[in-house]
Amino acid sequence: MSQDHFPADEAIGVNTSPESSFGDIVSTRVSRRGLLKGAAATLAGSVFAATFAGCATLTPRGSTLGFTEVEPGPKPDHAVAPGYRAHVLIRWGDKVLPGAPAFDVRRQTAEAQGMQFGYNCDFTAYAPLPAGSSSSDHGLLWVNHEYTELHMMFPGMDPKTSAETATKEMADVELAAQGASIVEIRKNGGGWQVVEASRYARRISSLNTPIRISGPAAGHARMRTKADPGGSTVIGMLNNCGGGWTPWGTVLSAEENFNMYFAGDFNKTPEARNYKRYGFGTRSRYAYSRFHDRFNVEKEPNEPNRFGWIVEIDPYDPGSVPVKRTALGRFKHEAATVWVNPNGTVTVYSGDDEANDYVYKYVSRGRYDARDRAANRGLLDDGTLYAARFGDDGLVKWLPLVFGQGPLIPANGFASQADVLIETRRAADLLKATPMDRPEDVETSPVTGRTYVILTNNARRKASEVDRANPREANEYGQILELIVPGEGRASDHSVLEHRWEVFLLAGPLEKGGRYGAGTTSAGWTACPDGMAFDSKGRLWIASDQGRAQSKFGIGDGMWATDTTGPGRAVTKFFYRTPTGAEMAGPCFTPDDRTLFVAVQHPASDDPGSTFDRPSTRWPDFRADMPPRPSVVAITKIDGGEIGG
Ligand code: FEO
Ligand code: CA
Repeated sequence: MSQDHFPADEAIGVNTSPESSFGDIVSTRVSRRGLLKGAAATLAGSVFAATFAGCATLTPRGSTLGFTEVEPGPKPDHAVAPGYRAHVLIRWGDKVLPGAPAFDVRRQTAEAQGMQFGYNCDFTAYAPLPAGSSSSDHGLLWVNHEYTELHMMFPGMDPKTSAETATKEMADVELAAQGASIVEIRKNGGGWQVVEASRYARRISSLNTPIRISGPAAGHARMRTKADPGGSTVIGMLNNCGGGWTPWGTVLSAEENFNMYFAGDFNKTPEARNYKRYGFGTRSRYAYSRFHDRFNVEKEPNEPNRFGWIVEIDPYDPGSVPVKRTALGRFKHEAATVWVNPNGTVTVYSGDDEANDYVYKYVSRGRYDARDRAANRGLLDDGTLYAARFGDDGLVKWLPLVFGQGPLIPANGFASQADVLIETRRAADLLKATPMDRPEDVETSPVTGRTYVILTNNARRKASEVDRANPREANEYGQILELIVPGEGRASDHSVLEHRWEVFLLAGPLEKGGRYGAGTTSAGWTACPDGMAFDSKGRLWIASDQGRAQSKFGIGDGMWATDTTGPGRAVTKFFYRTPTGAEMAGPCFTPDDRTLFVAVQHPASDDPGSTFDRPSTRWPDFRADMPPRPSVVAITKIDGGEIGG
């Protein structure tokens, strides 16, 4: 979701906790200039002496990425590096389920939307067919549908009043347009197509898909509602943004800004402290609560506790029930990146995307068994969740969120592990985790085993709060950190509770404090990194979300790529540019690196004044009678080679 399209959600800075480590930072901080020097010094030592090397058409020295960069934007159409093809694979409203009606944007119904591709596509995952193979020309594509925008989906809607003026049918269209899609796709003659009437095709919606709740919070009194007195099944998932893929062949989908769907005065509920910490207001920008009591906290005070989790889904079994895995904590999850440790335990990283919130990891108690797929499904129900404290000494410490340990005791309002998980943020406040510049994606290199943490921006960081991991006041551009655990490559041990970290790059133009590897071109700087994917060579592909700042920055959102080792380390190159007003999301490679799927979320919407009737672009159809449509794009090399050369 855009950084400032909905400023009340991700940049509200609800962490005002006196328990957070802000106080500690102030007492130990050195001068801001010293911190920046320190951050710079960690950038691979000598590599960090970046000067922009001429014009956009130069190939940066040392980079293994051979493509010519795209021109900066933003512009109405998308663009990819020369020699590549960017093909729109599936758009909002396209058929997903067999029998879905053709898209009729002016007469849309919830029933039709429930069978069609949803809105605002985000995280994507490619699942090879047959399952367990590394097939790169036939598979399933999982796509999150994060959120909806009435004024972009229906004619004549004003975003300021749409929550009050929308009809029930409109609200239900929105609920049906959220969630996820699974489509079967096949590569024919170099291009990808959706397979019609596939037995795998599936829509998971916020309107009517039952999802099981598992782990320590399942069944707890705070998870129970009138419709679900057992606290074990919830209808739908909300605001699914990032995600991950497990070695046992399931998708993890991350619920992010769940707070914005609920209306009613949360101060009148027993959960007031809890909901305040997650950024609840009393007015929702959605119409749901006018038609569905469960979205009114005064009528159904526990319903919001059933959102904000990681959801696990088996894409290969269209009849399977998705599961919310509460052991991984409740916050505005961005990503769920899985790593199998040398001892067989499984680590899952996730960021909490809010100004001044935290980075987390979960370590399973049990061990991964490649021969027992069903048993692995329990790994995410029993383990320990940790929050990160980044020290200016270059060490990160992982702090356990375990009931009964340290401050997580009844005197502080925690009576069980379920309480700790339901109020993960408050528990992490008490442990003095490090408030970060909006943690987004976290990804681990399959080659080096190093982990990268994106911090997208933080307008709210004050000069008194800067530290080495968040070194810029009023941070407009974001940064990427690198976590360095013991072990090499696949033998890296991500279960350890203390290890080194460094700054990988500081985003933004050089004159605004951007720091890259030497040789980055004038077209190569990025801003507000958000999502990531690794190719199998261990090169990092970075998606940006500049929000409404994209017109100010003048480059456009899109995909950048960089090496993480060697002379091309932190030398970013601009590969794909979204159409104007869009956000780049969902990067995902096929196993052979010959296709890169990306999600173009909310085209036109980040351009001020854009509506269904008067959008800044009508991408991808460019038809006068069709609004812009969020779409997944398949990028291939025209000569059939690997992406990035
Ligand atoms: Fe949905 Fe944090 O982006
Ligand atoms: Ca995002």
